[in-house]
Amino acid sequence: MSTGDLRNIAPLLDAYLTYFESNHLPFTIPGHKQKAARLDSGLGSLVDLDIPLYGGLDEIKLTNKVLIKAEGLAAEFWGADFARFSTGGSTHANQAVILALGKPGDRVALSRTAHRSVLSALVLAGLEPLWLTPEIDSVTGVPTGIPLSEFERVLPQKPIALLLTEPGYLGTLSDIRSLVTAAHAQSIPVIIDAAWGAHFGFHSDLPAHALQMGADALVTSVHKALPGYSASALLLARTRFLSADRLEQSFETTHTTSPAGAPLASIDAVRALLQTQGTHLLSELLKNVTRFKEIVQKEFSLPIFLTASDFPQGRFDPTKVVLRANQLGISGIDLENALGEHGVRVEMADSDTVVFLATLADSAEVFDQLAQIVIEITQRLQGTSRPSATALSWSVVPQVKISMREAYFATTEMVSEREAIGRISADLIAPYPPGVAVVAPGEILTHQIVTGLRQSKDAGVRIAYATDPTLSKYRVVIS
Ligand SMILES: Cc1ncc(COP(=O)(O)O)c(C=O)c1O
Repeated sequence: MSTGDLRNIAPLLDAYLTYFESNHLPFTIPGHKQKAARLDSGLGSLVDLDIPLYGGLDEIKLTNKVLIKAEGLAAEFWGADFARFSTGGSTHANQAVILALGKPGDRVALSRTAHRSVLSALVLAGLEPLWLTPEIDSVTGVPTGIPLSEFERVLPQKPIALLLTEPGYLGTLSDIRSLVTAAHAQSIPVIIDAAWGAHFGFHSDLPAHALQMGADALVTSVHKALPGYSASALLLARTRFLSADRLEQSFETTHTTSPAGAPLASIDAVRALLQTQGTHLLSELLKNVTRFKEIVQKEFSLPIFLTASDFPQGRFDPTKVVLRANQLGISGIDLENALGEHGVRVEMADSDTVVFLATLADSAEVFDQLAQIVIEITQRLQGTSRPSATALSWSVVPQVKISMREAYFATTEMVSEREAIGRISADLIAPYPPGVAVVAPGEILTHQIVTGLRQSKDAGVRIAYATDPTLSKYRVVIS
């Protein structure tokens, strides 16, 4: 299939392009009417390519059913019974699936590597987490997934669902098939937040996707590992243990009533791209990433990238580029800053790691360019290697004092950093990225957490969601 042909097999992409090929005299939203350039050229270049779903991709009454057709094609491609396209990111898709699980007071088994959107969704749904601690690889300090024994440990507390984050932020995966088998033996559905794994399942050298591994729901961001529009996401599900009606209701309850057309059309187009050229494009990506790592690695004696051979078979995303700054004796933050001076923006940096997001959109030339920059900077900044320290996000064992929902709605006060130690946090606080909670509402702010957050912040890591982002005060529950 040649460039530009995708519209023939992507109904939403076709609808988007067709809109601009025909005449319109809109007296509906959006208020810019695709004519804002008349008011200001800058504003026009921002909004004049924006059309909505209602009265844009389809008629106001959705008479052409293009969205349903496109979602049906995605369901078929991923092997799902249910598919919805979201313009609100995996954040929204997580909310939708979590609201469809049970009723307030029910418990869910939940990986501590969960993204904050999952925790917020639990507050909305009134569900309580039974935390599962990931295993940490002793060599690399990286979380390698939730062991089966962790899930079995919480089974007596009768969770109504198992919620996992796969792959984790650093590209590792749990042994998902064993966890699914154990959950299904108790009729417990498995929900996988695969925000970073949208490219899985369509190449033999990549992990299978969550539904192929037996999971019941798969949430993924089409704008992360795939070339989708910002905040475009997919919710895919099988309905053996989940209700399609509840999923539909929860999805609509939490989605905007005015979805933008471009993100929706991009999900459809990316599905069509994967379907027609996925194997070839993913092979190119795998080849480029492997070659990039080899070119840079050649310059150093210690291993400086995470690779699939660091982990059990099939438990690492080989397209993931995670540079181990500690092996080079460099601070990941300093490396991030130096890369920034060359115009390179990375996905994440903390003291020991720098994560580069590589996707189908990156050409071989781009990887060569990056390799030269990385070699030049790392050789210049290189110091004495140090052992990997497990990042704060992966090393906290939560001490839950009151329910997350109770803490979320509690009366609170601001106290100093010193006074906060031992109090119950009202905030979720997370180094971002990865957005994984170091403390969640209802949990004790321990000495490890308060000092760890201070050290991370002083080292240049962005600490998100705290009421006082300087961390000189903490918002705690008045009990
Ligand atoms: C594991 C995980 N889930 C969900 C999200 C939210 O995704 P989105 O930005 O598409 O809303 C993120 C964002 O980084 C994430 O890392």
